Amino acid sequence: MIELNKIYNEDCLEGMKRIPDGSVDLLIKDPPYCIGTTSNGKKGSWSDNNLIRPFFDIYFQEIKRVLKYGAEFYINTDWRTYPFLYPIVEKHLNVKNLIVWDYEWIKAGSHYRFSHEFIIYGVNGDGKRRFSASERDVWRIRPINFTSKEKLHNAQKPVELIGKMIKNSSKEGDLILDTFMGSGTTAVCSIDLQRKYIGFEIDEKYYNIALNRISEHQPKLL
Ligand SMILES: C[S@@+](CC[C@H](N)C(=O)[O-])C[C@H]1O[C@@H](n2cnc3c(N)ncnc32)[C@H](O)[C@@H]1O
Repeated sequence: MIELNKIYNEDCLEGMKRIPDGSVDLLIKDPPYCIGTTSNGKKGSWSDNNLIRPFFDIYFQEIKRVLKYGAEFYINTDWRTYPFLYPIVEKHLNVKNLIVWDYEWIKAGSHYRFSHEFIIYGVNGDGKRRFSASERDVWRIRPINFTSKEKLHNAQKPVELIGKMIKNSSKEGDLILDTFMGSGTTAVCSIDLQRKYIGFEIDEKYYNIALNRISEHQPKLL
């Protein structure tokens, strides 16, 4: 069994085995984007992604098992990884939209400057949306500034972004799963929104950063 409101310093594929069938109300998945840079920092190639295909195949089988029928999911990705990820997700779950996260400002980029990422949104099986019918598939939310004292992880997502996913697709008391917890953003948003959470983070440094962030967090209403 697994304890709620806790993060584990563990590979999510191992940790998820302890989550009971059909117990999770919402998945937030913000994995490394695998955008073709190898571990020695050199530019990799598109086909390198094939090496991680078996991981994601097992991952989504497990996700399907732990999600309730009708539970929603959000998967952060970008234009380079989306074509690889989409068929694997679609094999196991029901993809409904591709949300564009519009940064509202510009980042690096050698031709057009980067100012968006993608979020794959969908449902396990089928079910009615829980959010307003006027919600658009473009979300304009500022990323965290690199120089900000709140920046704890290179790929940290703003609380406004993760908070919106949680508010739109769950209710108070629901269980949120984040399998790639990083600096703990999903945990602090879950606390603020009075949801339960389970998280996994494989890197001990980020696990400790997340633990510290959660213990110092002053709950606020989002
Ligand atoms: C994109 S970051 C998540 C950032 C997070 N959303 C935040 O706001 O801080 C992805 C994280 O997944 C972790 N990770 C990579 N492989 C993992 C695995 N198999 N199980 C658990 N965590 C993993 C990495 O160490 C990294 O911190």
